[in-house]
Amino acid sequence: IFAAVEMAPRDPILGLNEAFAADTRAEKVNLGVGVYYDDNGKIPLLAAVRAAEKARLEAMPARGYQPIEGAVAYNTGVQNLLFGKDSALLANGQVVTIEALGGTGALKVGADYLKRLLPGSTVYISDPSWENHRALFESAGFPVETYPYYEASTRGVDFAAMKAKLESLPAGAIVVLHACCHNPTGADLSDTQWDDVVAACRSRGLIPFLDMAYQGFADGIEADAVAVRAFSASGLQFFISSSFSKSFSLYGERVGALSVVTSSKEESGRVLSQIKRVIRTNYSNPPTHGGAVVAAVLNSPELRQQWEDELAGMRDRIRAMRTGLVEALKAEGVAQDFSFVIKQRGMFSYTGLSAAQVERLKNEFGIYAVSTGRICLAALNNKNLGYVAKAIAAVVKG
Ligand code: LMR
Repeated sequence: IFAAVEMAPRDPILGLNEAFAADTRAEKVNLGVGVYYDDNGKIPLLAAVRAAEKARLEAMPARGYQPIEGAVAYNTGVQNLLFGKDSALLANGQVVTIEALGGTGALKVGADYLKRLLPGSTVYISDPSWENHRALFESAGFPVETYPYYEASTRGVDFAAMKAKLESLPAGAIVVLHACCHNPTGADLSDTQWDDVVAACRSRGLIPFLDMAYQGFADGIEADAVAVRAFSASGLQFFISSSFSKSFSLYGERVGALSVVTSSKEESGRVLSQIKRVIRTNYSNPPTHGGAVVAAVLNSPELRQQWEDELAGMRDRIRAMRTGLVEALKAEGVAQDFSFVIKQRGMFSYTGLSAAQVERLKNEFGIYAVSTGRICLAALNNKNLGYVAKAIAAVVKG
């Protein structure tokens, strides 16, 4: 049965990890995947996580099945971060939240449910978007198209074009929006632009699906929730996928959530019952450990504060690396203005490097980046910054 099976291409992001691991050069640097490394080049285990894990280990809890939708303490913690604990939607029971296997798992549960709800719909993603968005929604059975987003000449959002496209979409179209720290470009919408997006979704009857994988990496937990809050105030129904992979440095634990805003508590009950069927036929119920750790941190005032401080530390270090890279490129004699790197938000920079230049970085320097020119600033540190700047200088100078 496998004789005619073709070799699938490597994943454009995670495939880089495989190639990087096989590279034997000592000075290699992985700027591909969106992972935060500390200044020693290590993925941190946050102190707040360590404390919660220690307490959990000491308690030696039994490992029964979780509810299909995950634990209440976890789901409530997620809701408070996204909507704010005083949210009227939460008080009214209008939000359904389920624990999912990372942000990707949340997107897939949401996509599978939407396919049952709106089988004839089309999904619109930003141009460009996270590499996996298209594949994921296509694998749920949707046609996937794009709306204009990034404008290379300004290194910003072509908002007029984006808005015009949204205002032309048919009712019931699903629009995937990056709630903050746009992946891959780092170019976000302003508060007033979000208001316009909400208005377009309302006037056209669109289904917003907010992807929120980087809450806390632009300006902070509350500030980064601006898009969610704008949609919350609108009276619209919408979806949010969220993730603790980056913000808790819990990548391998696969801790994320899908939240769905409905129009009433009664509707929430029915929607949850359907989402539970999607989950049950995929993976039955989520694993215990990651969600329990996150819930313990979010529900303890001390650990929560410690976590927010650690998150601020990660955010500040990435910012310092942005400035450091721009200065180092200047010092290498690069004439091209790279100051846009400082303005981009989140973990990534859309550098404008071509696929050929990215290929040279890999072949000549052992530096791995996504072929679109996206690099992860959170993988830079004071030891590799100079080497990376030299390599980029070499490929941009020709
Ligand atoms: C990324 O964009 O690099 C991350 O979101 C990791 C992933 O799953 O692709």
